[in-house]
Formats: sequence, C-alpha cells, structure tokens
Amino acid sequence: MELTILKKMFDLFSFFCLFSWSLAGVFGVDEVKSVSVTEGESVTLNSDTEIQTDDMITWRTVQNNNLIAKIKENNNKTDFPDERFRDRLKLDEKTGSLTIMNIRTTDSGLYRVISSRSKTPLYTFNLTVYARLPVPVISRDCSVLRLYQNCSLVCSVLNVSDVTLSWYAGMSVLSSISVCDLSISLSLPLEVEYQDKNTYSCVLNNPISNQTTHLDITQLCKTCSDYIHCCGFTEAVIRLALSALVGVATVAVLVYDVRSRSLQQKKREQTPSNSD
Ligand SMILES: *[C@@H]1O[C@H](CO)[C@@H](O)[C@H](O)[C@H]1NC(C)=O
Ligand SMILES: *[C@@H]1O[C@H](CO)[C@@H](O)[C@H](O)[C@H]1NC(C)=O
Ligand SMILES: *[C@@H]1O[C@H](CO)[C@@H](O)[C@H](O)[C@H]1NC(C)=O
Ligand SMILES: *[C@@H]1O[C@H](CO)[C@@H](O)[C@H](O)[C@H]1NC(C)=O
Ligand SMILES: *[C@@H]1O[C@H](CO)[C@@H](O)[C@H](O)[C@H]1NC(C)=O
Repeated sequence: MELTILKKMFDLFSFFCLFSWSLAGVFGVDEVKSVSVTEGESVTLNSDTEIQTDDMITWRTVQNNNLIAKIKENNNKTDFPDERFRDRLKLDEKTGSLTIMNIRTTDSGLYRVISSRSKTPLYTFNLTVYARLPVPVISRDCSVLRLYQNCSLVCSVLNVSDVTLSWYAGMSVLSSISVCDLSISLSLPLEVEYQDKNTYSCVLNNPISNQTTHLDITQLCKTCSDYIHCCGFTEAVIRLALSALVGVATVAVLVYDVRSRSLQQKKREQTPSNSD
C-alpha cells in the first residue's frame, strides 16, 4: 500500500521532469530551435541559408553577445575569436553553418546566427549538452538483514543530473526515481525471490539516451548468500544474546513490579485508615 503511493509519487516526479523537458522542446521562445547532444560529440547548428555575395555570417552567444565565429563570402576567411572554443569550431563555407566539436556541458546555452544582409538573426539555437550517462551498478544490499529468504538489491549511479533511474521487469517499470538539476547520487532498491524468473534491468536515462544494466539473479544473489551465510551466524549469536538480555530485563521488571505491588498491598493492609 505505502509502496504503491511511493511509486506513484516517483512516477509523478519523473513525469514532471519529462514534462519540463518536452516543454522546452515543443514551445521554443521566439522560434528558438532546440538542439540536444551528449557531451564529447559534435553538433552542427544549421544556418539554413546560402552565403550571398558580400555577405558576412556571424555567430554569437546570446548570454554575453560574444562573437564566436565569422565568415565573409568574398575571401572565404573564417575567424574564431573565442578562446573557449579554441580548435573546436568549423564553419561551412557555403552555408555558414557552425559545427561545434568535442562538445562540453558548459557549451550549453543560446546561440544566434546573423547575416550582414538581414541584420536580424536568422536563427537562435538553444543548445543543451547532456553529460555522458554512467552505467548503473546493481549490488546486493547486504545491510538488510531479513528473516525470510529474499534477495535485497540496490541499483545506483554517482553524480548525475537530469536523469531518471528505473527498475524494469521485462518491459514494465517497477519503480523509478528522478533528479532534475542537481548533480547527486541516486540509488533504488529492489527485492526479488531467489527463484524469480523475470528479467530485471536497471535503466538510467535522460531525455536523449539511456544506459541499461541487466540483473543476473543467480549470480548476484548467490555471491551474497555466501556473505549472508558467514554473517548469519554472528547475527544469530547477537540476536540470541540480545533476546536473552531482553528476557532477563523483562523478568527483572516483572519481579520488581510484583514485589512493589505486594509491598503496597502489605502497607495497605497494615494501615487501612490511609488507603482511602
Ligand atoms: C533551453 O533548453 C533548456 C533545456 O531543454 C530549457 O530548460 C531552457 O528553458 C531553454 N531556454 C530557452 C530560452 O528556450
Ligand atoms: C571559397 O571556397 C569555395 C569552396 O572551398 C571555393 O569554391 C571558392 O572558390 C572560394 N572563394 C574564394 C573567393 O576563395
Ligand atoms: C562526484 O562528485 C564529487 C564532487 O563533485 C567528486 O569529488 C567525485 O569524484 C565525483 N565522482 C565521480 C564518480 O564522478
Ligand atoms: C519477497 O520478494 C517478493 C518479490 O519481490 C515479494 O513479492 C515478497 O513480498 C517478498 N517477501 C517479503 C517477505 O517481503
Ligand atoms: C534505450 O535506448 C535505446 C536506443 O538507444 C532504445 O531502443 C531503448 O528502448 C531505450 N530503453 C529505455 C528503457 O528507454
């Protein structure tokens, strides 16, 4: 019951994240073209034009109006004055389209292409660079001590943002957890039976890609059952000692209680005038 509510909450949260992702994609501000890419890759921002005679195409970042690339039709001369993009930019000589290579997450932002013939921007691009997704790691959660024979697992990823981490059984989502902007570590538990025949996988995804790790129950739950075996004995001893202690304490309290009661009883019997 509680788990269902929790799952609903996670689903709602991931929906919210997804929703804000798709919002950015669908409703661009002033015909902003959204471009998403994974860090390390190359992306071409298409100026969608042809350089005319005596035309000059310039590319600027919108945030601080920095000139990052410039090409003149008459001498084919390209210029890339921004140090941040040193050796990472290329301009198409016919169209003025800009290619950013070996892209970094810090390259995210708005870019504007302007033709000297029109003065108004041809296009504004909203470039979003997503970090490379780590491969989720599935491990046995040995800290969970249980009396029944289930296998407790946890899937985790380190330092992620704008992602959803989910457990799948076959094609259906069992549970998921999302993070929007912060860079944090996520982990998501799963409990399976040793004999479970489902194919479980843990999937990390952002709006443009995913990383999947498949669960091998026979392997993971076996390796950990050794662990449980070893510590099961110690645990049993500790449990035994604890329950013995609790037992002794209970008896002590009971004895004390009985004694004080009978003592009170005796007092009442001895001084009947005070009892009312
Ligand atoms: C650019 O895209 C990002 C993520 O897709 C979004 O959060 C942001 O609001 C967009 N900015 C503009 C000005 O469209
Ligand atoms: C500019 O470059 C294009 C393609 O490389 C070439 O066809 C053209 O002749 C060049 N123009 C000048 C003026 O150098
Ligand atoms: C995660 O981020 C912390 C702090 O930013 C950093 O010290 C650590 O090395 C990162 N770990 C990984 C696996 O990237
Ligand atoms: C053991 O795992 C199964 C499968 O996830 C679950 O249905 C069952 O409730 C678990 N047993 C206990 C005692 O939690
Ligand atoms: C992961 O991405 C692949 C394509 O790269 C896609 O076929 C698959 O459906 C995705 N899986 C999930 C769970 O999103």
